[in-house]
Amino acid sequence: MDKFVVRGGNPLLGTIKVSGAKNSALPCMAAAILTEGEVILENIPQVRDIETERKLLVSMGAEVELGYGRAQHRTSIKCAVLSDPVAKYEIVKTMRASSLVLGPLIARTGIARVAMPGGCAIGGRPIDLHIKGLEAMGATVTYDHGYLEARTPNNGSAPLKGAHIVFDKITVTGTEDLLMAATLAEGETLFENCAREPEVTDLAALLIAMGAKIEGAGTSTIRVQGVSSLHGARHKINPDRIEAGTFLVAGAITGGDLNVDCCDPSHLGALIAKLEQCGVKLTVGSDNVRVRSGGGILKASDISTEEYPGFPTDMQAQYMALATQTEGTTLVTENIFENRFMHVNELNRMGANITVNGRTATVRGKSDLQSAAVMCSDLRASASLVLAALVADGETILDRVYHLDRGYEHFEDKLRGVGAQIRRMGDVFGKNRRATDIAS
Ligand code: EPZ
Repeated sequence: MDKFVVRGGNPLLGTIKVSGAKNSALPCMAAAILTEGEVILENIPQVRDIETERKLLVSMGAEVELGYGRAQHRTSIKCAVLSDPVAKYEIVKTMRASSLVLGPLIARTGIARVAMPGGCAIGGRPIDLHIKGLEAMGATVTYDHGYLEARTPNNGSAPLKGAHIVFDKITVTGTEDLLMAATLAEGETLFENCAREPEVTDLAALLIAMGAKIEGAGTSTIRVQGVSSLHGARHKINPDRIEAGTFLVAGAITGGDLNVDCCDPSHLGALIAKLEQCGVKLTVGSDNVRVRSGGGILKASDISTEEYPGFPTDMQAQYMALATQTEGTTLVTENIFENRFMHVNELNRMGANITVNGRTATVRGKSDLQSAAVMCSDLRASASLVLAALVADGETILDRVYHLDRGYEHFEDKLRGVGAQIRRMGDVFGKNRRATDIAS
């Protein structure tokens, strides 16, 4: 089980490049299910969740090429025949992909059989709003030994019907999943209280390129006119705003001078505003942001996670690491997920001073962090621990970094490229150590 070894103390200097957004690529890959034509996606990140989705699509009968050649990072997906339209548990259990293939599968084949996605470290992650929306579109949903089976009207032989759907809660993949289903429904579907995340807009751009008729993506009201079929298309995935945000915090927490390149600053408004309130110096370009600590002491500034364009829940853990290095008390309120403070105990083991009361963590800074052996628990908590280790005194060992590999491409290589002392270790017996680990 891979570990990271991180020696703190180096300011990050230079340019670090952002990859494509995992949370855009996943729904866009699922959208290929909607057509027999070839869907080509560029700027795909080389992360574990993408590989999992490739396996899932292939298991259903899709032809998937996935290349990460120097210029490529692209995938070609052809779902000409879906010989086995089932999202199998052994594949989806590692990543809740079923919540993104349910809608496209039922829209394309009339019948979808998907393993119920389990919860994860950060919460129960229900999909009741996905199911409620499909039922509003005429689907019947039954449950069978951990699998959900959804059929369109007439036992799967007729298309879904357009409906008026108001989401009880704002859900990103719920909006994406049902948006995909509505593209092939009969008639018009009006969605209200939709997620406005850039990943929804990115998916809609692909669907429109495939021939879908969609208005309002990126706002809370989306209108879809169903069509009888969609065709293939080529689409470039957005830069990953959470990876970019993670690197901005890395530059700030290490007191460096870091240019975060190939990103879309317009997707980072809430984080940029918050970092500036802390006293971080940011220079915003058209596709990059330069971050400098500004030399002075950073000031505490509270955050409360909200749906986009509010402060993103996916940046909460990373910001908390920075908050340990600011003067004063920071209140961190997590409004989206019920259990997204798994990083708190590990940060406290490194010398942070954080207490949790319900949905609010109180961070008292500035703490001198010390190296320790810590455990990664989920994707963004893992990133938080790396950020803390970059400023801790000594050498921190992070275990279970496979969580990071799900959503950050070559994380340690990118950080080492701008001066971080970080390397990956295989298991303790070094069975699968890479030459670079030993050399560095
Ligand atoms: C997406 O998850 C992202 N994942 C998450 O990123 C992100 O944290 C989250 O949106 C919020 O921005 C992908 O896009 C693959 P939600 P999603 O549905 O869609 C409740 C990462 O780190 N809810 O917007 O699953 C839910 O429990 C990951 O990259 C229901 O109650 O999140 C939560 O409290 C982590 N019923 C809230 O809504 C439903 O049917 C928001 O969840 C669906 C959701």
